[in-house]
Amino acid sequence: MGIADKINKERLREHFEDLAKIGYISEKEGNIRLPLTPAERAAAELVKGYMESAGLETRYDQFGNLFGLLPGSDPEAKKVMSGSHIDTVINGGRFDGTVGTLSAIEALQTIKENGIPHKHTIEACVFLSEESARFGGGTLGSQAYIGRFKRSDLDRLKDKDGVTIAQALAENGFDPDKIESVKGDPSKIKCFVELHIEQSIILEESGIPIGVVDQIAAPTNLRLTIKGRAGHAGATPMWLRRDPFAAAAEIVLEVERIAQTIGKETVGTVGEVYVKPNAINVIPGEVVLGLDIRDVTYDRKQAAVKHVLDFAQEVAARRHVTIDVDMIVDLAPEKTNKDIVSLISATCDKLGINHMNITSGAYHDALNMAAITDIGMIFVPSIKGISHAPEEFTPFDDIFRGAQVLAEVLAELAK
Ligand code: GLV
Ligand code: MN
Ligand code: MN
Repeated sequence: MGIADKINKERLREHFEDLAKIGYISEKEGNIRLPLTPAERAAAELVKGYMESAGLETRYDQFGNLFGLLPGSDPEAKKVMSGSHIDTVINGGRFDGTVGTLSAIEALQTIKENGIPHKHTIEACVFLSEESARFGGGTLGSQAYIGRFKRSDLDRLKDKDGVTIAQALAENGFDPDKIESVKGDPSKIKCFVELHIEQSIILEESGIPIGVVDQIAAPTNLRLTIKGRAGHAGATPMWLRRDPFAAAAEIVLEVERIAQTIGKETVGTVGEVYVKPNAINVIPGEVVLGLDIRDVTYDRKQAAVKHVLDFAQEVAARRHVTIDVDMIVDLAPEKTNKDIVSLISATCDKLGINHMNITSGAYHDALNMAAITDIGMIFVPSIKGISHAPEEFTPFDDIFRGAQVLAEVLAELAK
């Protein structure tokens, strides 16, 4: 019997269901666990408890990332890392991030309980703020871990109420001035493997339960602040207006148009809009748009972003509004490591599980980890391809199968 047969299916199910209760609003409104809010912190403490019960050595870093260490027999050997995130989007589902987080812990617990020998230390990790829902940019915890943030970045990243991530960290007992200490040491890391739901429809449509990720698309997230002139909706003639919302509307449609035309894998979304003062009889004075443009090709993504920014300035000149650009996150796509891809595929073959190579349109913490180590990703199906919504669903048997593959892969990498 291999480690796959030793995974405690009921324990994994129980952990999954208990974590899903945190930040749960209703069937229609799903879950809300925005980073560094009480719900998300409660979820982190619950998961820390699971790590402790598994016998892992736990710690938070000063960015709120959570780690659980299972020491290997050779302290000099580089560590194998695995994990994901537990924050959600606004009105998100129960599966995004939690599946990979809990499966990594279950894998480590199974390895420990069964005394499976491993030279390499294995570390489960939960990265803070993988979602962009609060601070406008995603994968923040893993970006901090790979050393991409300076102290000043923590003042730059703000939520919609103007609370900076530095303030939110301090409110939760973390020290933003110690951002340097968060950085992981690449010379001590062998690899990072993340299990995740697919969030698209390819696996389900193909009837294949495991996706082996070969590349991960990357996002540019930016906010445009468009300022015009607030005024009376009845008394201001159309020729006198400087309406930032009408300018915003043009930009939103251009984001859609350029994404539809520039490349098959290019996607563009404006998912965040703040209109001030947001009153039916007031011409808005200011609008903030949150843009998300992604691609598997960096240059094409940059071309799409440049096109949108040039277009925005043209609209601004024509409509006599001003536009300020706040670049929040600008990442490059990454390929997963070929040897890890082969190992995941071979593991599926060994377990008699059908698998296929797949591209990730969603981003993940693995995208950042690729900058400092070899990465691999395992996908399990998402029913109807729905994610970032309360209807997000993956059958538990698929999650369990994913956890089995992950455990085998981690045990092999840590051998
Ligand atoms: C992360 O969840 C993303 O937006 O891809
Ligand atoms: Mn997500
Ligand atoms: Mn996710």
